[in-house]
Amino acid sequence: MDGDLTILGLESSCDDTAAAVVRGRVAGGAAQGPGEILAAVSMGQGALHAPFGGVVPEIAARAHVERLDICAAQALAQAGLSPCDLDGVAATAGPGLIGGVIASTMMGKGIAWGAGAPFLGVNHLAGHALTPRLTDGAPFPYLVLLVSGGHCQVLAVEGHDAFRRLGGSIDDAPGEAFDKIARHLGLGFPGGPEVERAAQGGDPERFALPRPLLDRPGCDMSFSGLKTAARRAADALAETQGGLRDGDVADLCAAFQSAVAETLAEKSARAMRAFRETGPGARPVFAVAGGVAANGAVRAALTLRAEAEGFSFLAPPLALCGDNAAIIAWAGLEGFAAGVRSGWDLAPRPRWPLDATAAPLVGSGRKGAKA
Ligand code: KG4
Ligand code: ZN
Repeated sequence: MDGDLTILGLESSCDDTAAAVVRGRVAGGAAQGPGEILAAVSMGQGALHAPFGGVVPEIAARAHVERLDICAAQALAQAGLSPCDLDGVAATAGPGLIGGVIASTMMGKGIAWGAGAPFLGVNHLAGHALTPRLTDGAPFPYLVLLVSGGHCQVLAVEGHDAFRRLGGSIDDAPGEAFDKIARHLGLGFPGGPEVERAAQGGDPERFALPRPLLDRPGCDMSFSGLKTAARRAADALAETQGGLRDGDVADLCAAFQSAVAETLAEKSARAMRAFRETGPGARPVFAVAGGVAANGAVRAALTLRAEAEGFSFLAPPLALCGDNAAIIAWAGLEGFAAGVRSGWDLAPRPRWPLDATAAPLVGSGRKGAKA
C-alpha cells in the first residue's frame, strides 16, 4: 500500500503506561521514515514502585489497566483525531511483565475492534530497535545497540522484522546493574538517572573497577561482576571509614558509569567491524536505543567509537530512549505498511526474542522486571 498511515500505539510492558499517535509515509509497501509524532502521552509509575526499590508486577499491571484507556483518549484528543481516523492500532504484545502486556494487547484489540481498524501486536524490543527509522529514517541495514533495564544486545537490523544478534549480555542488563548499584548506595529509583546525577564531578579513576569480557573475543558482554565489584568497593570503604561520604558516592558512581560506557563502546566497536564485513555501504549507521541510551557518558563513549570506526552515530532524543508508545506506534506502522496484522486471538508473550535463531544468552532477558 502507498500513502500515509496514522497509527495509535500502546505501551505497558513495564512501569510506563503510554499511548501515542504516529503518522508515516508508505511507498512500495514499506514505511518511509522519519515519522511524525502527532501525540504522545505517558504516565510513569515511579512513585508507585519507589517504596519497594523496584517494579512490583502486580501493582504495575493494575495501574496499567486503570490508566491505559485514559492515555489513549488523551493521545487521540491531542492529535485531534477520533478512533475512526486511525489506520491501525499497535500495542506491545511482549516481551515484558505478563500483566502489563496483557493490558496493552487487550486494550489495543478493543480499540481496534471498536474503530473498525486492523490490530498489530508489536514486539517491544522491535520498537526500540526501529527507533532510528522513526527519528531519522535510517535505511536498512543498520546496527543498533539496545540497552535497557532488561535487555542488552547489539543487533543488525536488516528489515522491519529481520534482526540478527551479534552479541549481548550474558547476565545483567546495564540498566538493571545501574538500578542495583543505586539501591546499594541509597540513591533513588530508577537508578540510572540517579547514578548519572551522583557521578557528576566524581573521579572515575579513583576506584579500579573491572571491564568484564573485554579480554575475550566477540561481542558478548557481562555486567554482573562489575556490579559486584562496585558493591564490594563501596562496602570495603564504608567499613574502614564508618560510612560513605558524598564524594565517595560520586567517585563510585563515576567509576561504575565509566566502566559500563567503556565496555559498551568496545563491544559495539567490535560489532561495527563485524557488521562492516557484511557490506552495509561506505558510511554505515550505528544507533543506540533503550533507557540506558539516555546516559550522557554512554552516549559520549559510543559517539567517539562510532566516529573512529567510520560509522554515522544516531541517538534518539531522551523522550524516545526509554519506554514510550511512539516507538510502538512506529513499529506497528512498519508492519501495517508491509501488510502485516495480528488476529484477534493473538496471545501476549512474556518472552519474545527478536532474533529467534540466536542461541539464548544465559540470563539475558530472563531477569529483571524491565524488557
Ligand atoms: O528502556 P527502558 O525505559 O525500559 C526497559 O527496560 O525497557 O529502560 C529503563 C532502564 C532502567 O534500568 C533505568 O535505570 C535505565 O534504563 N536508565 C538509565 C538512565 N536513564 C534510564 N541508565 C543510565 N543512565 C541514565 N541516564
Ligand atoms: Zn524498553
